[in-house]
Amino acid sequence: MNKKTFYITTPIYYPSGNLHIGHVYTTTIAWVFKNYKTLVGYDAKFLTGADEHGQKIEQKANENKQDPQKYVDMQVKKFEELWEKLEIDYDYFSRTTNAKHIKAVQKQFSKLLDNDDIYMGEYEGLYSVSDEEFFTPSQAIMRDGEYYSPVSNHKLTKVAEESYFLRIKKYEKWLIDFIDRNKNFIIPNKIVNELKKSFFEKGLEDLSISRSTFKWGIPIKENEKHVIYVWLDALNNYITALGYNGDDDKDFEKYWENGDEVVHLVGKEIARFHCIYWPIILKANNLRLPNTVLTHGWIITPEGKMSKSKGNVVDPNKLIENFGPEVVKYFFTSQMALSSDNIFDEANIREIYNSHLANKFGNLVSRTLAMYSQNFTAPIKHKKPLIADDLQLQEEILKSKEIFCKHFNAFEANKAFSTVIDLADKLNKYIDVMEPWKLKNDLSRLSEVINNLLNGIYALAVYFSVALPKKCEEVFMALNIEKDFNKIDDFSKFDNVKPKQSIILFERMK
Ligand code: MSP
Repeated sequence: MNKKTFYITTPIYYPSGNLHIGHVYTTTIAWVFKNYKTLVGYDAKFLTGADEHGQKIEQKANENKQDPQKYVDMQVKKFEELWEKLEIDYDYFSRTTNAKHIKAVQKQFSKLLDNDDIYMGEYEGLYSVSDEEFFTPSQAIMRDGEYYSPVSNHKLTKVAEESYFLRIKKYEKWLIDFIDRNKNFIIPNKIVNELKKSFFEKGLEDLSISRSTFKWGIPIKENEKHVIYVWLDALNNYITALGYNGDDDKDFEKYWENGDEVVHLVGKEIARFHCIYWPIILKANNLRLPNTVLTHGWIITPEGKMSKSKGNVVDPNKLIENFGPEVVKYFFTSQMALSSDNIFDEANIREIYNSHLANKFGNLVSRTLAMYSQNFTAPIKHKKPLIADDLQLQEEILKSKEIFCKHFNAFEANKAFSTVIDLADKLNKYIDVMEPWKLKNDLSRLSEVINNLLNGIYALAVYFSVALPKKCEEVFMALNIEKDFNKIDDFSKFDNVKPKQSIILFERMK
């Protein structure tokens, strides 16, 4: 059977600095969405990577007295090490200095130039080197005679230089119609309103897509004085990594052009590039558009947005050392709503760990498996429930599957996990009410109770596995059964299965 495909990407990060928990958050969420889609039967792929060109990187390399390529190689190695530490596996690691990417982007540029979607002009305006972003004076904020970015507050420099432009105005009406007709193209919907207010209502301008005052970029073949603007270079990574414009474009055909679902996960500050320029680049090339640009808010600290100057940048390496990779990933996935900014407080990780993982899940697994091995030596056959509590518990398990999927399909992982915790609460409550420790002399009833609990734990472990695959593998080993999403509603799955001894899944943290 041909599986449906799902392709999710993170932004590719600038190697001009080290990654912080904001990047960890985005990457974790995208990875968890991929795991969810794989769990429910998709052929799912996940891309992350590095955005290695541009003026800022060139400056950084100069400051470090290093050749830019050497500098990015060193920085990207740190990215890869972080993802390894966090146990984030990816299908594609996209690098914009990769020769295939460079060739593919040059080929695209030539075609757009031939088709008159690109023309030569003169750019006069404001530029933020830190954000690699252009602004017009009317978009910028003026303070003490200087211009600042309305998004990041970084200082803007005036530029006046010969530049190639991409025709944006030509596609403006098409884009507005497209966004209006495709309600899931931009999630959450409030981003549509923000884009309308900041950009569409003022009218779009053609985009300057080349720079000639520095060298660190993809050279334009037709005019080697110019390098391609870093965003045109970077956005294309999502397709060049799949083989677009290259010798082997199997993956591009499968996951992009003919793929079922394509999703870009991005921080809100870069929604503009993904929701305006990227669709137009694709349209001008007659390529398929992503289904969804999923935008998330920022992770902030109690002192506000993280920045080097405030000294409040949280190093993910420390978190991983303190809590372990899976706990960190579970925390970001279950505690952050994509649609808003979220305040990060390290103390909450410990609290969530102790409450969700040690008490509600781990303890439930230990208690149930201990009761099983103390009282039974053979598998327990499932019996049709006759008691209201049993019936209700089974219904809760079935319902949890539906709600878990509903939330994940709406890209609300935090809500999906609150359903999981609800189910864990119900299972723990069931133990309190059934008092199985008093049933040692009624093994028939005890077997029913334990069978219900095993079925509940199985469901929990399947759900948790999208964020905590290794921990859940321990649970499946102890249960002596394999993970299978489709088996959640088969209550006789333990009929011939004899769980092993009890395990301590999560030690309480002091
Ligand atoms: N290189 C561009 C993206 C090109 S994509 C074709 C870029 N890179 S970046 O290194 O600045 O990373 C930006 C992304 O990192 C954000 O969009 C977001 O996903 C993540 N985050 C960076 N800081 C963040 C927070 N404080 N909170 C949450 N995510 C943030 O922009």
